Amino acid sequence: MNTETNNPKAVIVIFGATGDLAKRKLYPSIHRLYHSGKLGDQFAVVGVGRRPWSHEDLRAVVKESVSSDDAEAKIEEFSSHFYYHDFDVSNPASYQSLNTLLAGLEDTYSIPNNRMFYLAMAPEFFGTIAKFLKSEGVSKTTGWSRLVIEKPFGHDLPSAKKLNEEIRDAFSEDQIYRIDHYLGKQMVQNIEVIRFANAIFEPLWTNRYISNIQITSSESLGVEDRARYYESSGALRDMVQNHMLQMVALLAMEPPIKLNTEEIRSEKRKALRALRPFSKDEVDQFFVRGQYDAGTVDGGMVPSYLEEQNVDPNSNTETFVAGKLLIDNFRWAGVPFYIRTGKRLEKKSTQIVVQFKDIPMNLYYGNGNSMHPNLLVIHIQPDEGITLHLNARKLDGGTFAKPIKLDYQTNYNDIMNTPEAYEKLIHDCLLGDATNFAHWDEVALSWNFVDPISEKWAENKTLKPNYPAGSMGPKEADQLLEKDGYHWWNI
Ligand code: BG6
Repeated sequence: MNTETNNPKAVIVIFGATGDLAKRKLYPSIHRLYHSGKLGDQFAVVGVGRRPWSHEDLRAVVKESVSSDDAEAKIEEFSSHFYYHDFDVSNPASYQSLNTLLAGLEDTYSIPNNRMFYLAMAPEFFGTIAKFLKSEGVSKTTGWSRLVIEKPFGHDLPSAKKLNEEIRDAFSEDQIYRIDHYLGKQMVQNIEVIRFANAIFEPLWTNRYISNIQITSSESLGVEDRARYYESSGALRDMVQNHMLQMVALLAMEPPIKLNTEEIRSEKRKALRALRPFSKDEVDQFFVRGQYDAGTVDGGMVPSYLEEQNVDPNSNTETFVAGKLLIDNFRWAGVPFYIRTGKRLEKKSTQIVVQFKDIPMNLYYGNGNSMHPNLLVIHIQPDEGITLHLNARKLDGGTFAKPIKLDYQTNYNDIMNTPEAYEKLIHDCLLGDATNFAHWDEVALSWNFVDPISEKWAENKTLKPNYPAGSMGPKEADQLLEKDGYHWWNI
């Protein structure tokens, strides 16, 4: 896993330094790394953008974005490591002057020639930037040089391939870190530990004992101010192609022979390869899409998707997706993996429910005569923890069994110290650990899976608002499970 010692020394170059992601996630994460001592003093951050900012302008933004109880002097010291470089994305001279700035900073801070290029801007520029970084010698270092890429990585398989070829002309696969921020979440990383470090789960982790697995990632927020992007993306590309399928892969993969990047990725790749592809004709049988109507969220009325700013009033963009996935291998044959995700749902929550099969014969009665199945719930957010649902004898005895829960939630102290997803991922990249980033093969396999679905939906422009904001999605999403004799566990 970690291939370099702690306390990395590098210059981090952020393309898109004036943007929202940099302010909301990247600067605070770099600060937390600094604050916790994971980043020493031998570092510099160069913010690159089109606006004519000064170093001081950038530092002011950085100071504002990091909330901390650090003394002012410490924040001053931290922000003094930030430098701004305004540039024109397609002008070689911009890259030459960037190179000069970086070389100077490497001298000032005694940084070996290690450079991390973080592309946090519109994806249409990714290829151009990678090309110029190479042609102008910026990425040619005597230390390491790594490229971090934000999503979306393409729009479908052909566009993702094209983008990949462009960046692969300049960087090798092992220099490329494709961000999927779900892979930086504490409890997503814990899926492997829960599975592979517990003798009581792994032997049961098969179609012999598991009846179905449900992954829900719901959001109460709407599209906010991102309609321009979201209109061409929709929930399928925005959440399913990346975050949801990554969680499926982690739940379904075989135990790796070693906990290193290559072995883990190889098992994830195999799991994704085993996903049963659906033809366009089968899409309606396995997938449901939805779009939010007006409704009530957190006690307040909110408008429908079609009334949001910058949304086409006839838009067919889906804000909700539910699907039934099948994994055709020995371990999972016959076990549906149900996924659902959407905006303007009842609450913000991501969780995984593993439902075990019923015992062969009921000796005890539960509520309504049937026993509550055993469930393992992995709470990804906002709670972080696991709950195991078991049955136990009722206090008043007899032949009744009562569901009980064994609950582990990380406590307040743990939460305070839980690193943010971006903090972990930036740190991993600085250390050269690519395990929690998506390999090209995973990205390609995921697009391959979702492309027929989006093609079918693009042809069939019949989507109308079909769930009220504040609900758990359209009724068809419930019927998807009811057909199989299951229901969503809203727990
Ligand atoms: C992003 C999507 O990748 O993930 C957003 O683009 C979505 O639309 C977000 O809101 C959800 O992430 P999280 O960490 O809040 O669950």
